[in-house]
Amino acid sequence: HPLVRGITADAPLLNQYRGTRTAAGEQQVPSRRPVWFMRQAGRSLPEYRALREGTTMLDACLDPEMAAEITLQPVRRHDVDAAIFFSDIVIPLRLAGIDVEIKPGVGPVLGSPVRTRADVEALPELDEAAFAPIAEAVQKTTAGLEALAQEQGRSAVTPLIGFAGAPFTLAAYMVEGRPSRDHLGPRAMMHGDPETWNALAAWAADVSGRFMRAQVMAGASAAQLFDSWAGSLGREDYAAHVQPHSAAAFSHVTGLGAEQGVEVPLIHFGTGTGDIIDLMRDAITEGAPQGSGARPAPGEEGSDRGAAHPVVGVDYRLNLTEAGRRVGAETPLQGNIDPALLTAPWEVLENHIRQVVASGAGAAGHVLNLGHGVPPETDPEVLTRVVSLIHDIGYEG
Ligand code: CP3
Repeated sequence: HPLVRGITADAPLLNQYRGTRTAAGEQQVPSRRPVWFMRQAGRSLPEYRALREGTTMLDACLDPEMAAEITLQPVRRHDVDAAIFFSDIVIPLRLAGIDVEIKPGVGPVLGSPVRTRADVEALPELDEAAFAPIAEAVQKTTAGLEALAQEQGRSAVTPLIGFAGAPFTLAAYMVEGRPSRDHLGPRAMMHGDPETWNALAAWAADVSGRFMRAQVMAGASAAQLFDSWAGSLGREDYAAHVQPHSAAAFSHVTGLGAEQGVEVPLIHFGTGTGDIIDLMRDAITEGAPQGSGARPAPGEEGSDRGAAHPVVGVDYRLNLTEAGRRVGAETPLQGNIDPALLTAPWEVLENHIRQVVASGAGAAGHVLNLGHGVPPETDPEVLTRVVSLIHDIGYEG
């Protein structure tokens, strides 16, 4: 089994949010309550806008030097406890040669939407060599994080989180060809033509799973699957048509690091997912469905991998205490500051953050985050102040 670059038994992310366990099984309390933000890199930062000027979003992602620098910017500025790799969920499509771009202010747009069985059958193979710029960017990022820790005289290097789009969210962009509100296309397809849907979702699971794996193998210490639009699905639809494919995506990273004695935390996030949050947790641990062409699940024959370490990302709509009730007390949570309050008066925001901290107190671990991405118009100084408040609260509050 290949070794994961840069991961050691004391992978910092684990230490920070769960504490380490001694050989006797005693829990050691982490020094500070960790916080990072979805979309912490990006348009809220003037240094990002300056660096990206004249480069398209996806070209920036595929320029290893630029992607690494953009990933490091919010770590330097805000003192967040994790870097999130600067990339996008549609990067695997671009790497496979599909005509896709990110239109500013709109989102991902495909030259030809994928709507019929023939369209799905014509989807290209994604060659493993295509991930080279991703691996290079991850390596440059982890080197930069090591240098930053040294500069600041810290022994703990800030961990890097890799990510990918979940099959439903990625397939939703592929079927609609652009962002949509209700995702009618993919939802119609899973009922009207389940065979085509399953083939498409299996393709998406494969490319997304391998994208995450490439990042972890190059040195990312954790991986997050974004099913941003899964909240448009009812529970039955999610269980029948989506969860097995998300499990297949996760199976590419489940158990990586086991030979080095570490678990790579796997985070699953979506918005509006209160009704399916337990199923999203299970998608991490369940591994691959039979016959999907995906990798074997842990414990299945042919698998040499260990157990998954699931973390559930909670959006701002669901109270963390209630989320914990739904996913079980042993599951660490990530979330869920309401991004809308980043522009509220500081007292209002501070109050809200203290409530979020209190509501996460019963969980097996809690990483502070927003309930969705940083809005572009956010004042970056507010984000720095939020980080500092959460570090001050520590484990007292
Ligand atoms: O700091 C980070 O979070 C890292 C980078 C990151 C980006 N996209 C960069 C980006 C991550 C984790 C993503 C994931 C992503 N991309 C998701 C899932 C997370 C979520 O927000 O729900 C989704 C749905 C996408 C697809 C996508 N890409 C959208 C909807 C947009 C916004 C379009 C717009 O202009 O409003 C993008 C573009 C994008 N991805 C930007 C960034 C920084 C903005 C592009 C720019 O700066 O011009």
